[in-house]
Amino acid sequence: MGPLSAPPCTQRLTWKGFLLTASLLNFWNPPASAQVMIEAQPPKISEGKDVLLFVHNLPQNLSGYIWYRGQATDIYHYIASYVVDNDIIIYGPAYTERKTVYSNASLLIQNVTREDAGSYTLHIIKRGDETTGVTGHFTVTLYQKPPKPYITINNLNPRQNKDVLAFTCEPQSENYTYRWWLNGQSLPVSPRVKRPIENSILILPSVMKNETGAYQCEIRDRYGGIHGDPVTLNALYGPDLPSIYPSFAHYRSGENLYLSCFTDSNPPAEYSWTINGKFQQSGQKLFISQITTKHSGLYACSVRNSATGRRNSKSMRVKVSAPSGTGHLPGINPF
Ligand SMILES: *[C@@H]1O[C@H](CO)[C@@H](O)[C@H](O)[C@H]1NC(C)=O
Ligand SMILES: *[C@@H]1O[C@H](CO)[C@@H](O)[C@H](O)[C@H]1NC(C)=O
Ligand SMILES: *[C@@H]1O[C@H](CO)[C@@H](O)[C@H](O)[C@H]1NC(C)=O
Ligand SMILES: *[C@@H]1O[C@H](CO)[C@@H](O)[C@H](O)[C@H]1NC(C)=O
Ligand SMILES: *[C@@H]1O[C@H](CO)[C@@H](O)[C@H](O)[C@H]1NC(C)=O
Repeated sequence: MGPLSAPPCTQRLTWKGFLLTASLLNFWNPPASAQVMIEAQPPKISEGKDVLLFVHNLPQNLSGYIWYRGQATDIYHYIASYVVDNDIIIYGPAYTERKTVYSNASLLIQNVTREDAGSYTLHIIKRGDETTGVTGHFTVTLYQKPPKPYITINNLNPRQNKDVLAFTCEPQSENYTYRWWLNGQSLPVSPRVKRPIENSILILPSVMKNETGAYQCEIRDRYGGIHGDPVTLNALYGPDLPSIYPSFAHYRSGENLYLSCFTDSNPPAEYSWTINGKFQQSGQKLFISQITTKHSGLYACSVRNSATGRRNSKSMRVKVSAPSGTGHLPGINPF
């Protein structure tokens, strides 16, 4: 029986080695040339799944190895050891059924639970001199799925070209990266859009019309991403300079005049019409049947948005000529 059959004697061993906090661990096995390495397979260790702590580059000519739970290498933390000469596995107090030690030193943990998170120590014992060996530590970190993100916003009804908008994707963490979506499209990189702090904050220096819509943010880790619910940004803008249709300004007496006015505005503008500066009616359309020369004059469409406090107007000069039959516009009269 080798020394490994009596676990307490391991306390006599000289422990050499060092701790690396990285999850991929290397430790040096002097004086051999290859570097022993412990790697979790798969690297994403999820509850309920299996993980193999895979030992690479195991040195030749070993008498055995011991796995410990935690960093203390005493009998209480002894999981199992493998004795090369006898080809036997010796179980210790820290052993559970879900753990398996292989002859190649790899340790399989099945159906990982929260209790399995934490550090593990592997001690490798060289043949010939059982008092020396190397130890390495490995930390099992359970994978935490990123939480579903949500957006906080400093102003849900910003005015165009006036209000600076800041969206924040919560929760903020240096462990994640962030992406933004507007109306289902990944937000284009624009000089107007500044994204400090790993993109978790989106700043629109002044809201533009095309920046109205449903915003979503996505939290990403190295395995994937998760979208939050959309937040609708209702930018207030306008009214722009209105247009009057049709734009022709010459009518004949007896014709019907039918004008429409359009402007882009959010919320929609209130419309009103004046003729020669005198209020005529409110509404987007102006209808006058059988106009006469007295209806000549300056027609103006005024638009107003009470939310932005802005107004605009457009005017056109309408000329009504004498009754038809004078024949000065051939081709227009169908009879
Ligand atoms: C060790 O053995 C296990 C079980 O047979 C196997 O899955 C794993 O790939 C082996 N590891 C190495 C480093 O050979
Ligand atoms: C995994 O562990 C959980 C909790 O310990 C248990 O309820 C479940 O049955 C186990 N699953 C398997 C496949 O062993
Ligand atoms: C393995 O160890 C034994 C005993 O110390 C030694 O005689 C032998 O040369 C070693 N073999 C190799 C390949 O290192
Ligand atoms: C970031 O990840 C580290 C290591 O996994 C963890 O300790 C820390 O709590 C995480 N931070 C946040 C804000 O989630
Ligand atoms: C909105 O339009 C401006 C200029 O017209 C452009 O620079 C910006 O990238 C656009 N924003 C979006 C979200 O498309």
